[in-house]
Amino acid sequence: MTSKPSMLYRISGGRFGRPPVKPETGCPGGCGCARAVAGGSGIQQKATRRNFLGFVGVGMAGLAATLAGIPIIGALFSTPARSEQIWHVVGEVDDFPVDETVKVEFVDVEAVPWSGPAARNAAWLRRTDEESFIAFSVYCTHVGCPVSWRAGASLFICPCHGGVFDREGEVVAGPPQSPLVRLDVRVQDGDVQILASPVPVTGERPS
Ligand code: FES
Repeated sequence: MTSKPSMLYRISGGRFGRPPVKPETGCPGGCGCARAVAGGSGIQQKATRRNFLGFVGVGMAGLAATLAGIPIIGALFSTPARSEQIWHVVGEVDDFPVDETVKVEFVDVEAVPWSGPAARNAAWLRRTDEESFIAFSVYCTHVGCPVSWRAGASLFICPCHGGVFDREGEVVAGPPQSPLVRLDVRVQDGDVQILASPVPVTGERPS
């Protein structure tokens, strides 16, 4: 009768053999998942570190994208899209001497903090008699530079490409193809009001 080897263990089929050698790396529970144990191979540790850094990178990118998107989302959902024009009070009637052309500035009443310079607008305003006014957008109809008023010459001059408009806003010289945009003006309760878009107008005259 042969004696059982002391260092051998019973394995399948009633035979004896050496105990299975546990891998040095891998899940400590032996389930075969990718978790590494201390003392695992360098390759697996590197792979785990790479995975970790990958997760961190994806997380940071997601966070950055979310932060960058907050103003856009806010603009889309907090501010109703507006194309209608708004009456802006620019002063009282007596603030404006007859036959004098002055620059008036106004801010979009529905501007939001991130509107920036787009919330600001301006017009050239002239009081033509006791109760009547005429107003022009300050923006040149060529590519939108603000024009200045030269009272001595009675002309609007655009500094960008030499556009020139007469006191009625008609093109006199330079590349502009259209007159200055006329803005509606009204007097209400002693206030002078200009009808203007939320953003500066450089296109055709409003109908
Ligand atoms: Fe005024 Fe070009 S923008 S002439």
